[in-house]
Amino acid sequence: MKTPALLSLLAGALLPALGAAQDAAAAGAALAKASRCYSCHDATAQLIGPPYLAIASRYRGDRSVMEVVLARKILLGGGGNWGDVPMVPNEHVKPADALKLARWVLSQAPAGKN
Ligand code: HEC
Repeated sequence: MKTPALLSLLAGALLPALGAAQDAAAAGAALAKASRCYSCHDATAQLIGPPYLAIASRYRGDRSVMEVVLARKILLGGGGNWGDVPMVPNEHVKPADALKLARWVLSQAPAGKN
């Protein structure tokens, strides 16, 4: 196979995948905004709650379990993992959206194991 053909094949396979990942990131950010998560969280800065990036880094070896644990905590609230201030229950968030939000937070870890 000639190189240009190989390249266009790769581009055809990879670019849609990259686009889908970007769409998922944008959808997650929009959901977080609509769910008022940004009033206490930022991507990289410590506000009332820990930065999404720090959360994702801490749990990046254990995403499949942690997405369920974090979705539950997003819904019910709770504390003890980052400091003295607990997260309030986010009662306006639907369970299915809590799982999406947990996955989106966890997806923000830089490449590493998992
Ligand atoms: C009123 C402030 C507040 C709001 C609103 C809030 N959080 Fe939090 N969040 C916190 C605090 C404080 C913590 C740290 C809790 C702890 O120490 O375990 C936290 C922790 C977390 C964690 C990590 C939990 C853990 O056990 O490590 C995740 C994930 C999270 N928040 C996601 C969200 C999402 C998604 C939303 C929007 C639906 C949201 N938070 C809304 C304050 C808030």
